[in-house]
Amino acid sequence: MDSILVKDRYFKPFIPAAEIAQRVAEVAARISADFEGRNPLLLAVLNGSFVFAADLARQLTIPFTISFIRVSSYEGMASTGELKEVIGLSESIEGRPVIIIEDIIDSGFTMASLLESLRRQHPADLRVCTLLTKPGNLKADVRIDYSAFNIPNDFIVGYGLDYDGFGRGLKEIYVVDTEA
Ligand code: IMP
Ligand code: MG
Repeated sequence: MDSILVKDRYFKPFIPAAEIAQRVAEVAARISADFEGRNPLLLAVLNGSFVFAADLARQLTIPFTISFIRVSSYEGMASTGELKEVIGLSESIEGRPVIIIEDIIDSGFTMASLLESLRRQHPADLRVCTLLTKPGNLKADVRIDYSAFNIPNDFIVGYGLDYDGFGRGLKEIYVVDTEA
């Protein structure tokens, strides 16, 4: 198995591109069935979800709109990880069915604060779709409606996810190689 160097650490192949495509298509089929006739708004959380969101969007068979948001810690609160601010949501989500598109749910705190913030704007429906979930790390109380893969707690990179900004363009998902 060939390890690759991303910035200054080695990573080994973990989920092949074909397997990702297969699961993304399956999740898209479920969303298309669940949201038939409802014109959902996809809210893709930048930066990590840009690849997943692009592939998922092209597999959906229903009408939808898509916007891109960021979640960042309030200044000076970064270390607590509790207070988060939603950036980039310019349209009203009141009365709309909304599906959040995330790259990975780890502790779940990012998603929990995002959900709390969006709920205050009274969407008609608010669901969570993530490419990856680390169930072993999940601490926040978050209902995950769609998850393509459950993975162990190891650090991964590729298909939009980064290690210190690098590795987002990798077509497969790689896991940190602790032996390299
Ligand atoms: P949470 O708030 O702990 O759920 O953190 C979620 C965020 O942490 C994700 O949106 C990613 O940006 C980042 N993250 C968590 N695990 C990984 C990983 O294994 N690789 C890359 N980024 C990760
Ligand atoms: Mg992210």
